[in-house]
Amino acid sequence: MRQLIPHPGRDDEPDLTAAYAYPGGTRRWLRANMVSSADGAAQAGDGLSSGLSGPPDRKVFRVLRGLADVVMVGAGTVRAEGYGDPVREREEFADARALAGQTPAAAIAVVSASLDVDFSSRLFTAAVARTITITVADAPADRLELARTAGEIVIAGTGHVDLAMAVRLLAESGRGRILAEGGPHLLRDLAAAGVLDELCLTISPQLRAGGQLRIMAGPELDTPLGLALHTLLDEDGYLFARYLTTTRETASSTPGYQD
Ligand SMILES: NC(=O)c1ccc[n+]([C@@H]2O[C@H](COP(=O)([O-])OP(=O)(O)OC[C@H]3O[C@@H](n4cnc5c(N)ncnc54)[C@H](OP(=O)(O)O)[C@@H]3O)[C@@H](O)[C@H]2O)c1
Repeated sequence: MRQLIPHPGRDDEPDLTAAYAYPGGTRRWLRANMVSSADGAAQAGDGLSSGLSGPPDRKVFRVLRGLADVVMVGAGTVRAEGYGDPVREREEFADARALAGQTPAAAIAVVSASLDVDFSSRLFTAAVARTITITVADAPADRLELARTAGEIVIAGTGHVDLAMAVRLLAESGRGRILAEGGPHLLRDLAAAGVLDELCLTISPQLRAGGQLRIMAGPELDTPLGLALHTLLDEDGYLFARYLTTTRETASSTPGYQD
């Protein structure tokens, strides 16, 4: 892997753990990690994102999971991709996680209002850190009971998950290093809620066309969210852009956030 920005031309392998370290001095930081083809498709022809990925992307994916307290994912992705497995415990992150007071592996947090999720899957039964369901107070009572038995519940709002509240509740429980893995509708809602601090975007070296989703889907944002390029890496044609969001008024007014 090469680092292109900042300090291009260094031919030593970048330290990915350092390159993607969560910023110090914050009680909560939400980064999203998404992959797209060079022409903007966030899904391959089979409707999944795995066809866009490759070994370099999976390397970054593992590091981002290794650094996070919580991996947030939309129920649409859980249903589409059969997100069958919880986050695995990895030796290379064990010491740093213990030192930082983190669980041995990040917990997955599924965002769902309908609770149309398989609570008997390994995602819930085999988790190192209990899987969290982020939902609403008026979710179907029988499904809520299943979710409560299967893992941890975070109630954030009514009707529609209040993502700013959800992020605040996670941070207040000491789990402020949040990694959102999509999908596109969740990413759009996180941006609209003003809680997206960072986007880690893998641009996969392929063209697809077709009508697949982009990395964000849903109603256009009232105000475009600005991005500043922080880091750019490449390996085998895969580009890894780490952007920080620049329109931060809403994010920084979220309780619990310290700049
Ligand atoms: N390229 C990539 O990096 C990438 C990453 C992830 C996924 N994907 C692809 O994206 C596709 C799925 O994406 P998607 O956009 O349809 O699904 P998604 O964003 O993963 O999930 C949407 C669902 O999440 C829940 N949700 C999201 N925001 C919510 C809110 N504010 N309040 C309440 N519920 C909320 C709802 O679940 P309920 O309906 O249960 O209420 C909603 O239907 C798959 O094909 C997957 O392969 C691509």
